[in-house]
Amino acid sequence: MTTVRLSDGVVKDEVLVVGLSQKGGATKSSQPALQIESGDLALDSKLLLQTLRDLGATGSHDEVIKIPGSNTRLLVFTGLGESAKKFNNEQLRRSAGAAARALAGNSSATFSLPATNVDAVIAIAEGAALGNYLFDQFRGSTKNLQRAPLKSITVHTSLAATPDAKRGAKRAEIVATYTHLVRDLINTPPSHQTPESFCASLTAAVKQAGGSGVGLKISSMTDTQLKAKGFGGITAVGQGSANPPRLLNITYTPKGGKAKKRYAFVGKGITFDTGGLALKPALGMEAMKSDMSGAAAVCAATIAIALLEIPVAIECWAPLAENMVSDNATRPSDVITIYGGKTIEVLNPDAEGRLVLADALVKAQESKDLDGIIDVATLTGAQVVALGTRTSAVMTNNQEFSDHFLAMTQKSGEAFWPMPLPVELRASLDSPVADMANIGERMGGMLVAGLFLKEFIAEELPWLHLDIAGPAYNEKAAHGYTPVGGTGVALRSLVQLAIDAARA
Ligand code: BES
Ligand code: MN
Ligand code: ZN
Repeated sequence: MTTVRLSDGVVKDEVLVVGLSQKGGATKSSQPALQIESGDLALDSKLLLQTLRDLGATGSHDEVIKIPGSNTRLLVFTGLGESAKKFNNEQLRRSAGAAARALAGNSSATFSLPATNVDAVIAIAEGAALGNYLFDQFRGSTKNLQRAPLKSITVHTSLAATPDAKRGAKRAEIVATYTHLVRDLINTPPSHQTPESFCASLTAAVKQAGGSGVGLKISSMTDTQLKAKGFGGITAVGQGSANPPRLLNITYTPKGGKAKKRYAFVGKGITFDTGGLALKPALGMEAMKSDMSGAAAVCAATIAIALLEIPVAIECWAPLAENMVSDNATRPSDVITIYGGKTIEVLNPDAEGRLVLADALVKAQESKDLDGIIDVATLTGAQVVALGTRTSAVMTNNQEFSDHFLAMTQKSGEAFWPMPLPVELRASLDSPVADMANIGERMGGMLVAGLFLKEFIAEELPWLHLDIAGPAYNEKAAHGYTPVGGTGVALRSLVQLAIDAARA
């Protein structure tokens, strides 16, 4: 875990990070005029600017320049893009994150970036801590070649002594720690992560967080129990694997039982998606170890919300299965029964996420007095085609809930975009033999998947479906605070939603 501190005194760390912006934005022909953005810390800019010009600095996003410092061993400039009176918080988060990534191998760094209020200070702390990540659990002979992340991060700010800022630093630390847990769970290879071991990992995480002492309870159902109780979706998807399915449940009850809101979270937990008998092509299949990103995000978010002592009750469900090929795998045209009684013709065993989610969504709604239900899933390739790899989709049966959630994502800095659930696509899910088929019209596949899930939601219950297929897993280069591999997307927005609900 990275320690996050605040300070308004002299810089004690061996590394100082400040911002660098471009006056008037980037120009193609010549080097832009540069501006050092060192926040509440005064630096002698003149000489430094000459050096930066000589080094070809541009101040653009994801540019990190290190020079020998005078008061610190290293002075680091992280690009902020175009100069501004007030930088937006996500820009600060990304710039701090890019610098933290570039500083692996050092032990501590102080970040002095332009922050004019507490939220900006928290964003800087959060970005730095989020970027400060290494996954080396499965390295052997190359382990010692990995540069360790920073052990401590200090944000320099004149607001250091305010209670809000102190609380914010703590929050940044918790948010980063649990985002790192999400990333670890995603990056863990399927040889080492089965539905059962996912439950074991979360049991350990809940215990480490303080368990019932912080209001957390965890339990899970085995494959035998799932079968006996009629969870036909999870059973059908998991039956082709030697690693049997599970349904994990984590609940958070705030102390004193005074919950201001009660939400259910449901996360898709396919520990590996081969496509089943609709086998996926080998090229790119390795990315399907990330098909449990939704489950990881909702579980870790629930623990983070508990540690933040937010007075909001959370019931978190993670249906876990491995979608494999075998003589026991679900066949195209098999008919299964979802928990609660709806029958589904499985025309495509690769549309498995919606089957496990349907079971869990129905189960989650047995809880009375829910104010809302949110599912998070790497559900469709169509999501990636529509919105790319950095923007997630929100679908809903309640415009107000969706608008509110989107406002929360503005605060958390996670990119989400609203998508419709057009009624005319619903008929494409009709089956000639069962209540519904698991696939429909190919065009608009993300929306069809959303419409499938909607069939399992009570009409009056506000529901959000978050399709994070693209953003959950970064197969390209690292950027900002985002490493290669699992990103941890959705956790921050779920936490933000809880924080806001507690205020109401
Ligand atoms: N896990 C995949 C979706 C996915 C694709 C996630 C790419 C991340 C990146 C999901 O189970 C799947 O296979 N969906 C199918 C649905 C189709 C058969 C209707 C898809 O999108 O192709
Ligand atoms: Mn699939
Ligand atoms: Zn899948």
